[in-house]
Amino acid sequence: MNKCLISFPNSIFPSISLEKYDVLSEKLTVQNSPILFGCRTGLCGTCLVAVTGDIPLPKVEEMELLEILAPNDPQARLACQIELTTDIAIATYG
Ligand code: FES
Repeated sequence: MNKCLISFPNSIFPSISLEKYDVLSEKLTVQNSPILFGCRTGLCGTCLVAVTGDIPLPKVEEMELLEILAPNDPQARLACQIELTTDIAIATYG
C-alpha cells in the first residue's frame, strides 16, 4: 500500500489520501485540514497534534520539544516531523 489515509476526527474536514512518505506540511493546508504550521522544521511547536496510528517514533529533536509542549503524552507529535507510513488520525492538540 503506497497510500495513507489521513483522518481528522472531531473536525469538519473529510479524510484525505496521501502518498506514503508525503510530507504533511507540504500537503495539509487550511483548506483541507485543521492543522496549522509555522516553521515547518520542528522548532516552533505550532503544529502540535495528537496522532493515532502506528507511525515511526519521534527523532531526538522532536522528542525534546514534545517533552516541553506535551510531557508524558505518547500521542503528541509535531505534524511537520511525522514520517507518514500508514493510515493515521490527527487531531489538533488540547
Ligand atoms: S511547524 Fe513548527 S514545529 Fe512543526
